[in-house]
Amino acid sequence: MTKIEANTPLVAKHLSKQFGGLLAVADMSMEIRDREIVGLIGPNGAGKSTTFNLLSGFLPPTGGRLFIDGKDVTGRQPESISRLGLVRTFQHGSLMRSMTVEDNILIGAIGGMPGATQTSRRLRVQEMAELVGLQQVLQETAGNLPHGMQRLVSIAIAFASHPRLLCLDEPLTGLNQTEVASVLAMFRHIRDNYGSSILLVEHNMKAVMQTCDRLYVLHHGKLLATGTPAEISKNQQVLSAYLGNANVH
Ligand SMILES: Nc1ncnc2c1ncn2[C@@H]1O[C@H](COP(=O)(O)OP(=O)(O)O)[C@@H](O)[C@H]1O
Ligand SMILES: [Mg+2]
Repeated sequence: MTKIEANTPLVAKHLSKQFGGLLAVADMSMEIRDREIVGLIGPNGAGKSTTFNLLSGFLPPTGGRLFIDGKDVTGRQPESISRLGLVRTFQHGSLMRSMTVEDNILIGAIGGMPGATQTSRRLRVQEMAELVGLQQVLQETAGNLPHGMQRLVSIAIAFASHPRLLCLDEPLTGLNQTEVASVLAMFRHIRDNYGSSILLVEHNMKAVMQTCDRLYVLHHGKLLATGTPAEISKNQQVLSAYLGNANVH
């Protein structure tokens, strides 16, 4: 039996998920190491969101095992997994629409800073707001902001807890170029300064290729390839199954 590294944020071994007669994810093994930004890519219906739900405990696997820091957490509920530092965002945002931007981010900070003073939490909120350029709208009601800014708030909330591993399902959808650049800068800042790891499910290939340390490519529920962006963009199987049609550059 292989030893599961005690300090690896996430290891998945042979995960699978069957929905009735459909095998949505088959024999999926992956590893997310400390301070890594990992991308999970593949065509529509490849099984990316299902894998994401398996990793965060929102779906129980029908096969395989999941480890966080070497601890077997297979079948655990999402709350139990998030207590171990794995935080996820939702595709349609997870903010409190009637509260201010500041209070929304503060809620995220409280989750990750038990026992911290009010002042240190406020500082964390300031830092997150500066990172994504939300300083000017901290006192606005979150639900009144344009769509792109609301997504920035959701990401700031998730990062405010400085999770060990943050999993984001298509965080760049609907953002303009400036917002995309802010979010990517935030990812790198969090990784470099706080040691968080990030799992990114994303369709924006340019952003994925620029930002990720390693990629996993899914196709028909199976792992087609894994490697650095440079390796993946040259991989013949990936090119014919997926990237051949995507705008990589
Ligand atoms: N809850 C579900 N019940 C039944 N089939 C599902 C469910 N969720 C996803 N699927 C199917 O599993 C396959 C993979 O879907 P998904 O993980 O959403 O792919 P992706 O995120 O890569 O587009 C698809 O064929 C989809 O229709
Ligand atoms: Mg999806």
